[in-house]
Amino acid sequence: MGVNNNPWFKLCFLFVCFCFQSHISFAAGKICGNQSISGKQTISSETGEFILGFFTPGNSSKYYVGIWFNIPEQTIVWVANRDKPVFDIYTSDIRISNGNLVLFNESGIMIWSTNLSSTNSSSLEAVLLDEGNLVLRDGPSSSDPLLWQSFDHPTHIWLPGPGAKLGFNKITKKSTRLTSWKTNEDPAPGCFSLELDPNSTSQFFILRDMSNILWTSGPWNGQIFSLVPEMRLNYIFNYSYIDNENESYFQYSLYNNSLKSLLIMDVGGQIQQRTWLQPAKQWNVFWAVPRMQCEMYAYCGAFGICNKESEPLCNCLEGFGPKSVDEWNSRAYSDGCQRKTSLHCGNSSLVNKKSDRFLEIRSIVLPANPRPWAMAVGNAQECESTCLNDCSCTAYAYNGSHCSFWSGELLNLRQLAKDDIDGKTLYVRLAASEFSSSNSNKGMVTGVAVGSSVMLILLGLLLSVILRRTNMRKTGTFFTHTDKHGSFPYFDLSFF
Ligand SMILES: *[C@@H]1O[C@H](CO)[C@@H](O)[C@H](O)[C@H]1NC(C)=O
Ligand SMILES: *[C@@H]1O[C@H](CO)[C@@H](O)[C@H](O)[C@H]1NC(C)=O
Ligand SMILES: *[C@@H]1O[C@H](CO)[C@@H](O)[C@H](O)[C@H]1NC(C)=O
Ligand SMILES: *[C@@H]1O[C@H](CO)[C@@H](O)[C@H](O)[C@H]1NC(C)=O
Ligand SMILES: *[C@@H]1O[C@H](CO)[C@@H](O)[C@H](O)[C@H]1NC(C)=O
Ligand SMILES: *[C@@H]1O[C@H](CO)[C@@H](O)[C@H](O)[C@H]1NC(C)=O
Ligand SMILES: *[C@@H]1O[C@H](CO)[C@@H](O)[C@H](O)[C@H]1NC(C)=O
Ligand SMILES: *[C@@H]1O[C@H](CO)[C@@H](O)[C@H](O)[C@H]1NC(C)=O
Ligand SMILES: *[C@@H]1O[C@H](CO)[C@@H](O)[C@H](O)[C@H]1NC(C)=O
Ligand SMILES: *[C@@H]1O[C@H](CO)[C@@H](O)[C@H](O)[C@H]1NC(C)=O
Ligand SMILES: *[C@@H]1O[C@H](CO)[C@@H](O)[C@H](O)[C@H]1NC(C)=O
Repeated sequence: MGVNNNPWFKLCFLFVCFCFQSHISFAAGKICGNQSISGKQTISSETGEFILGFFTPGNSSKYYVGIWFNIPEQTIVWVANRDKPVFDIYTSDIRISNGNLVLFNESGIMIWSTNLSSTNSSSLEAVLLDEGNLVLRDGPSSSDPLLWQSFDHPTHIWLPGPGAKLGFNKITKKSTRLTSWKTNEDPAPGCFSLELDPNSTSQFFILRDMSNILWTSGPWNGQIFSLVPEMRLNYIFNYSYIDNENESYFQYSLYNNSLKSLLIMDVGGQIQQRTWLQPAKQWNVFWAVPRMQCEMYAYCGAFGICNKESEPLCNCLEGFGPKSVDEWNSRAYSDGCQRKTSLHCGNSSLVNKKSDRFLEIRSIVLPANPRPWAMAVGNAQECESTCLNDCSCTAYAYNGSHCSFWSGELLNLRQLAKDDIDGKTLYVRLAASEFSSSNSNKGMVTGVAVGSSVMLILLGLLLSVILRRTNMRKTGTFFTHTDKHGSFPYFDLSFF
């Protein structure tokens, strides 16, 4: 977050400790009746783990009401008035009014509210619970009716806890999603969000502007998301997926409750699971995705292939060219590639021509989208003939016992190094005439700007080694990351 070491926060932190010790000022764990919070007053959860009050992010001169971890580094976990800051905290206040918890600005105008219409009870209380959940309930005890909770309205952070559900309500058709901050100093909703696929496929999407899918986690298999293999090494978090007739959602908890952790949709579009390292007094990024542009959903578009070691990152498969050459040359790859020669299969005007053939592409990550269908067979030859006979089949792969078949446009093809053990071989359907030239067809890709010389490649390799070295100790090296697929740079083993 980069907003630690800010003098105001330190001051506030001291102040909070002071309150706890001397009981001079407001130190209650709740807001009720005629009480209000303004200025530097705060409320804390029962064990003091979380604090609610006015804060200012980094060097900003704007104030927001939020909840933060009671630790030296300013770590805001929830914000009420995300896009309506106040400037004078002494004349602004948050209090219970007309059956709601309401934030009034300097002019006494309501700028944020829990927005309930159902109650006018006089026994309402707003309480900050130890998991970091702000609840509004009708009475002093935890068994009194719960009217509203901040866990149902997360901002950019998902905290562990059984009440913190990230998912989709099938009755109201509403998602509980995380939305990034605009900048590190502006908590207004930014362009990235994390939400569960409303179609109950148990995958998370990172969306840009709430609509374009930038990344998908792959479906949940009970232990991990298929595209987040580093989760396999986890024994700190208990993630669980619930799907019933009313809702589908994820929740997670810590096996050891004395740890602090959070999952953040950060300003750059990356999600990070962070854990607080008490001895070092800093957040450690436990895992983070997507780790590179090649992992962004459809980054190179249809039939594009991404290679993090190459410049440009995206190329079209052999036999394909960019749909929009200008866009492609300006490094906007999302339009993808199209066939140079249309397929024979299913084209009645081409009866006399040779039928289609398959281009072999080695050492790649097989496309996750569209999802393939599988069939058990005895040998690779059967895969080829099955695919050849089905005009909708665009590609196949054989894993020794099963064929996988893809139809339609292939997305998220990713080139790995030749010796990468995770590399697979894919066979992509092309018109036979694409093979007539004498060139070998082993995984070659053609792009618009393949003008890279050997010199450039060597330079790139050198640079990547340097980057790798310098990035080893850093976290959050989004998009400069050059680590091999399958190793886990964010996984701090010393943590265990
Ligand atoms: C709130 O304040 C009003 C007037 O100041 C008073 O009549 C009322 O009893 C107070 N309510 C509580 C719950 O303190
Ligand atoms: C706040 O301002 C100081 C001094 O101008 C600067 O060094 C620091 O990086 C700023 N912090 C943030 C989070 O921008
Ligand atoms: C209080 O909020 C209202 C409505 O958003 C706004 O018009 C007014 O300028 C705000 N007052 C101050 C002092 O910012
Ligand atoms: C409060 O609820 C009403 C109706 O449900 C809605 O139109 C309004 O935008 C909500 N306001 C806030 C601040 O959420
Ligand atoms: C509370 O609301 C109920 C119905 O919504 C109404 O009958 C009652 O008079 C209200 N009480 C107060 C004190 O406003
Ligand atoms: C959900 O499924 C429907 C029907 O299968 C499909 O039209 C829609 O695009 C899907 N939505 C998403 C977000 O995948
Ligand atoms: C993990 O969480 C689920 C759902 O909350 C719970 O049923 C299960 O007992 C938990 N497992 C462990 C080992 O704590
Ligand atoms: C779904 O909601 C209905 C109505 O609120 C409730 O009766 C039912 O138990 C819920 N189902 C589950 C699985 O929670
Ligand atoms: C939980 O974490 C705390 C702090 O890291 C540690 O002292 C404690 O031993 C852990 N407890 C268990 C059961 O692992
Ligand atoms: C059939 O092949 C011809 C000649 O290559 C091409 O112009 C036409 O678009 C193809 N039709 C289909 C449906 O692909
Ligand atoms: C091959 O693919 C099938 C279907 O996806 C899968 O069940 C099987 O485990 C795979 N076999 C190997 C050796 O990976």
